Amino acid sequence: MTKQKIKKLSGTLRIIGDKSISHRALILSSISIGKSEITNLLESEDVISTVNILRDLGIKIVKKDKKWIVYGNGTNGFIQPRKALDCGNSGTTARLILGAVSTNPIYCTFIGDKSLSRRPMRRVTNYLEKIGCKVNLTNKENLPLTIKGSQVNLPLIHKISKPSAQIKSAIILAALNTFGETTIIESTQTRDHTELLLKYLKVNYKIQSIRSGGRKLIFNGPYEIRSKNIYVPGDPSSAAFMVVGALITPNSQIKLLNVSLNKTRIAYLSILKKMGGKIKIQKTKVRSGEQIGTVIASTSSLKGIRIPSKLSPYLIDEYPILSIAASQAKGVTYMKGLDELRHKESDRIRSIVGMLKSFGIKTQTIKNDIKIYGSSSEKVKCYKTVKVYSDHRIALSASILGIISNNAVKLDDNGKSMATSYPNFKNDLKKLIIN
Ligand code: S3P
Repeated sequence: MTKQKIKKLSGTLRIIGDKSISHRALILSSISIGKSEITNLLESEDVISTVNILRDLGIKIVKKDKKWIVYGNGTNGFIQPRKALDCGNSGTTARLILGAVSTNPIYCTFIGDKSLSRRPMRRVTNYLEKIGCKVNLTNKENLPLTIKGSQVNLPLIHKISKPSAQIKSAIILAALNTFGETTIIESTQTRDHTELLLKYLKVNYKIQSIRSGGRKLIFNGPYEIRSKNIYVPGDPSSAAFMVVGALITPNSQIKLLNVSLNKTRIAYLSILKKMGGKIKIQKTKVRSGEQIGTVIASTSSLKGIRIPSKLSPYLIDEYPILSIAASQAKGVTYMKGLDELRHKESDRIRSIVGMLKSFGIKTQTIKNDIKIYGSSSEKVKCYKTVKVYSDHRIALSASILGIISNNAVKLDDNGKSMATSYPNFKNDLKKLIIN
């Protein structure tokens, strides 16, 4: 395989809309009353699954001049869909919309692709069933599932055992249409985009910090939410690919604009800095409740570090690209407590290790921990087609290592999975490449 030589990464790039916030902007606009214009929505396959399902649930959504316009029907406004709701590859679509429909008196079937149909759903439906809906899961765990929403919903106290923003958001969406006080306790704080957007939409609820570092949310529903226009900031998880690209490519410096600097999402920048990464972060403004800013990254000599389990909820989507940084670092990087990676778009412990092995990088898996033996001095070469298990973050990560690889990197899906979260990745990367 031949490949054009890449001299460096250089230039400025505006980062595409955040995936998590795009789903929430669409769902919250759908359950508001009136018209919302959403700007900078991520138009990836996952987000389009959410758009299509909301339309199936009777919500009018149109695209006009790059803006997405949603005509919300209120918190009890979904109508009986005529067909199964297809979540494609998107766990966020499935789990959040389950919460949103669970308190509406309709009957829905949720389906997804092969990968999503293997992922656990009971972690969400367990809570929703307590509130009042009836759920039938395949193998007591998976999609396809059916859910019969109830109109008699119980206001309860929910303690979430797993740190998961998807579980939390599903319960919040149910609480918005439940009479009385719903309390949600998360022992570890997870990404808080739902809460921030609700604040921006002037929904009145309480947040209390708790001793474990987590939070207690108290809702007093049902709510009537007035629609507002929403701006979606750039996705820090998509920015992560470019950041690592700049750190590992000689003579590089890139500037990424419009990145969400939400604290629950940028722990990876602190980890990369700890590894020796030259990264500067500048806050610019707050839009629709989210802090936005600029990230500048330059070529760095990286060193291996130990990444403790307690950080895993904050790094959950970035382990694949952090593994690429680790592969180019001096010494060993030890990633601990990656249990949840087993339940992502692929078993990411297996797919990360497989990806690194395709490049001849030594790894060791100890139960749910991964050790990566960095080889900063060696020339990178891809020895075989990288198996990405249809997982977008694996395909994107392998392509980043491809920048410094001496031969072309071939992905077994030819990069098709990238459309899940970063449809324009190849073009964006091209804008930064200097040959
Ligand atoms: C997401 C939450 C995370 C993350 C996923 C998106 C969200 O999942 O991995 O990509 O938008 O709420 P969990 O909440 O299940 O950890």
